[in-house]
Amino acid sequence: MSDDSSSLPFVVGITGASGAPYAVRLLEVLCRSGRTTHLTISTSAATVIRQELGISISLSHFDSKVFGELGPGKLIYHHQADFGAGIASGSFRTAGMVVCPCSMSTLASIAHGITTNLVTRAADVHLKERRRLILVPRETPLSPIHLENMLAVTRAGAIVLPAMPGWYNNPKTLDDLVNFVVARICDQLGVENDLMKRWGKEQVES
Ligand SMILES: Cc1cc2nc3c(=O)[nH]c(=O)nc-3n(C[C@H](O)[C@H](O)[C@H](O)COP(=O)(O)O)c2cc1C
Repeated sequence: MSDDSSSLPFVVGITGASGAPYAVRLLEVLCRSGRTTHLTISTSAATVIRQELGISISLSHFDSKVFGELGPGKLIYHHQADFGAGIASGSFRTAGMVVCPCSMSTLASIAHGITTNLVTRAADVHLKERRRLILVPRETPLSPIHLENMLAVTRAGAIVLPAMPGWYNNPKTLDDLVNFVVARICDQLGVENDLMKRWGKEQVES
C-alpha cells in the first residue's frame, strides 16, 4: 500500500454470521483511530445483532449510537441495497475492506462474483481493484464447499482471517477473546492497536 492510503477510508461490512461483538469492537477501534469508515450491514446481520447483543437496528434508519460511543472518526452508513453508494464503485478510493463477521453465504457470493447486496458488491470491487479485503468467517464444522470458497477468495487476493481467538495469552474475559480477533484484523489493516499483549514483546524489549 502506498503511504497516501493512510488518509483513505476503510469499508466494513457486517453479515449474518455469529460474532456481532467482533464487528462492534472493530468499529470502535477504527473510529477511535480517527479514520473515516463506510459501513454496510446485511439483512441477516440485523437478526444476529438482535440475538447476540440485544440491539434492534433499523437498516433503513440506521443510527450508529445503538452501538454506543464509537469514537471521533466519521462513520458513514450505506443501506445494503444502495448500489449507488460510492463504495459500490472502483473509482471510489479506499484503504481496504473488512467483512466481519463473514457468513458462509457471503463468502460463497464473494468467491463467485455474485453481488446481490452492497456488502458483496463492495467486496467484489476490492478484489477487482486489487485492494486489501479481509474476510472474517465463522462457521463450524466446515464443509468442502466452505473450504473451497475460502481457497478461491484467497487466490483472488483476499485475506481469510477466521474468528479463531488464541488462548496462549490466557484470556480472562470475553472481551479478551474479542480483542484477540480484532487486533489481528487491525494489524492487517495497518491500524495501530494495543488490544492484546503481543507474543515475544518482552524478548524484544529486554
Ligand atoms: C443467530 C444466528 C446465527 C448464525 N450464525 C451463522 C454463522 O456463524 N455462520 C454462518 O455462515 N451463518 C450463520 N447464520 C446464518 C446466516 O445468517 C444466513 O445464512 C444468512 O443467509 C446470511 O446472509 P448474509 O450473508 O447476507 O448476511 C446465523 C443465523 C442466525 C439467525
